[in-house]
Amino acid sequence: MQQTDSLIYVIFGASGDLTRRKLVPALYSLFVQNLLPDKFTLLGVSRSQFTDEAFRLEMRSAINEFKEIDNAGKIDEFIKKIYYKSIQFDNASTYHMLKNRMEEINGSKKINGNVIFYMSTPPSLYGVIPQNLASVGLNNQNDGWKRLIIEKPFGYDLESALKLKDLLLKDWSEDQLFRIDHYLGKETVQNLLVTRFSNGIFEPLWDRNYIHHVEITSAESIGVEKRGGYYDTSGALRDMVQNHLLQVVALTAMESPSSLEPIAIRNEILKVFQSLRPILKEDVKKNTIRGQYIASKIKNENIAGYREEEGVKPESDTETYAAVKFYIDNWRWGGVPFYIRTGKRLPTRVTEVVIHFKPTPHFLFAKGAACNTCNQLVIRIQPDEGILLKFGMKTPGAGFDVQTVNMDFHYSDLSHLRIPSAYERLIYDSINGDATLFARTEEVIEAWKFLSPVIEAWKNDKDVPLYGYPAGTWGPETADDLIEEKDMTWRYPCKNLLDDGFYCEL
Ligand code: BG6
Repeated sequence: MQQTDSLIYVIFGASGDLTRRKLVPALYSLFVQNLLPDKFTLLGVSRSQFTDEAFRLEMRSAINEFKEIDNAGKIDEFIKKIYYKSIQFDNASTYHMLKNRMEEINGSKKINGNVIFYMSTPPSLYGVIPQNLASVGLNNQNDGWKRLIIEKPFGYDLESALKLKDLLLKDWSEDQLFRIDHYLGKETVQNLLVTRFSNGIFEPLWDRNYIHHVEITSAESIGVEKRGGYYDTSGALRDMVQNHLLQVVALTAMESPSSLEPIAIRNEILKVFQSLRPILKEDVKKNTIRGQYIASKIKNENIAGYREEEGVKPESDTETYAAVKFYIDNWRWGGVPFYIRTGKRLPTRVTEVVIHFKPTPHFLFAKGAACNTCNQLVIRIQPDEGILLKFGMKTPGAGFDVQTVNMDFHYSDLSHLRIPSAYERLIYDSINGDATLFARTEEVIEAWKFLSPVIEAWKNDKDVPLYGYPAGTWGPETADDLIEEKDMTWRYPCKNLLDDGFYCEL
């Protein structure tokens, strides 16, 4: 890992929501913990006109809204490090002005040329801005390193992702590119590696011999909120599955890396992507479910359907729910189905990985033969972060009745430790040149390849239905049929890690 003592952090799209809600609070939190380089400057860039002072005021209020940081006393010191420059992103000539501003800041602060450019802009600019930066030499690493952080989505489909890849790699090298997938910054997602590879008891069971199937859910109770315009061109498959959920699959399924070096971990992740069994066009209907939330009433409150949301076309076919069944064709996972699902306006917010173990070869006792009651390891990514192991125990009393009980760990029990935000971790790593938790080009391309037939069929095959589901339910009921095994359904997790098997209170 390279340490650095100076840095200009340039955020494109500085007047946007992500900068306010995530990036600046994360940078401030790092500053409070003395984790930023000594000579640090933040330069906000966007189309809007702000003076340095006006932008500082905005950022001060963003930090004040962020309640998680203890040491608010350092805010004045931090704010002084912030500057602003307005440019037209698609006008190459204005990048000279940006360069001048950076040199001016450089000169007055006597810092060298380490720079991070963070693309917090609409995806349509992910090609344009880096190209324009390169045209004025801001990709040049002679006077310090230059890195680009790119938010998802990286492309809209395989074709556009390949184009974007070629465009970026023309002026930038792979090790300058840091593709953010904020799920990889989550403490509990990283803990998948620690749970698997620091314990002798799980890994020997972690394969086709003992695992019946793997289920990954990422549910959100919110709708599309103010992002209807963006979401309507994306949908659940592109917004959540292509990136976040497939990364979680990779960490759940990968082989043990030879070391913690970024290349070792990323190589193992890539192998999982390369082993995903392609879903044939003719199997899309059988192996995927898509849905869209429709209006409903929750606790006497009318909830709008997706098509009524601001920015969404009234006849939109965009999915707000996606479930996919697939296989990973390698020795570890041969024949084990993976089920992933995600959706908006579901009953609760929860992301979890559930490892369903196979039943015992011969079941001695009267109850519990159906695999829904087999051992499960639930890795709760959020909220109520933790791990739950479900196993059978003798019900006290006569006979040998078996009941399922829980052994559980909650992160909240480690009350002295704060869980840093995903952005905090990822920004810190990118400053230190650690690319482990960033998606590599090949991973992204493999993920698009895998989903291409689904995208294609959902767009063109009229036989693949788009189911409506009332806001506040667990998505289309027919999603249960994806799990072909008799008597088995998805786990219906509720707000609390332990309180599963029930519909949440709406
Ligand atoms: C984003 C998606 O990447 O992830 C959003 O664009 C989604 O639609 C969000 O709401 C979910 O993130 P988290 O961290 O709240 O699970």
